[in-house]
Amino acid sequence: MPAALRVTELRKRYGGFEALRGVSLEIAPGEVVGLLGPNGAGKSTLAKIAAGLVRPSAGSAEVAGHPAGSAGARAAVGYLAELFRFPAWMGADELLRLHQRLSGSDGGERERAELLELVGLGHAARVRVGEMSKGMQQRLGIAQALVGSPRLLLLDEPTSALDPAGRRVVRELLEGIRERGIAVLLSSHLLGEVERVCDSVAILLAGEVVARGRPAELARPRGVEIETDAGVRVIAGAGREDVPRLVEEAVARGERVYAVRPLQSTLEDAYLEAVGEGQE
Ligand SMILES: Nc1ncnc2c1ncn2[C@@H]1O[C@H](COP(=O)(O)OP(=O)(O)O)[C@@H](O)[C@H]1O
Ligand SMILES: [Mg+2]
Repeated sequence: MPAALRVTELRKRYGGFEALRGVSLEIAPGEVVGLLGPNGAGKSTLAKIAAGLVRPSAGSAEVAGHPAGSAGARAAVGYLAELFRFPAWMGADELLRLHQRLSGSDGGERERAELLELVGLGHAARVRVGEMSKGMQQRLGIAQALVGSPRLLLLDEPTSALDPAGRRVVRELLEGIRERGIAVLLSSHLLGEVERVCDSVAILLAGEVVARGRPAELARPRGVEIETDAGVRVIAGAGREDVPRLVEEAVARGERVYAVRPLQSTLEDAYLEAVGEGQE
């Protein structure tokens, strides 16, 4: 099976400004990838290129083996923009019907009902967008992006406008999407969220990927903290496997050991290290 998304040496120039400076990134089928980066890093530009809405200046982007923007790629991709607004007078079911027409989906009534159910709007098929909370609109937006059973879902900051309860709903929704085997590119500046739902993470900075890997790989061990009657020490470079030896050594020195803790950096540490402490 081809990669859900494969971008190679991708560049995007807006006038004299280069927003993407040679980005290479691959998303495996069914993989949920978090795209992190400060404002202006190029996250939205990358999503728009994958969606076929913006043309790259150089390099290539393929969705499920089809060049981005081609009919094959458009059929395989679902996209929810960072700032979207649906017509206030449109009902939820009506909006999905419109998007079925736009995307050529023949899923009919059944697809619409199933998608509304998936995003927790099964009871709201006739509710108008204008009467919906922000969270409901966001979920409807995700249902819209899933019309036509895409292989790749592009979600550009889907939770930044939501309150914590709304974010949790979207997070749970992503679990349901993962179970369907749909690959996701989730751009977000909420590190905890990305850490929780994503298989892997790419950190984008000034148009370049500066880190890529599983959250646990990016968050490296930071040593072992040992507390004895002689005080608290951090043994840099040590890991979990060193704990028994460290305890034996302390005991051999006649110290009483009260606590030993392997220190793990968080994804936040890794992020700040990658983009520089001053950002955001
Ligand atoms: N249509 C455009 N014309 C000119 N500059 C743009 C355009 N779209 C984005 N940019 C610039 O490209 C850079 C990356 O933008 P964007 O992809 O929106 O980043 P992000 O989503 O990470 O905040 C920013 O400096 C932005 O100002
Ligand atoms: Mg953006």
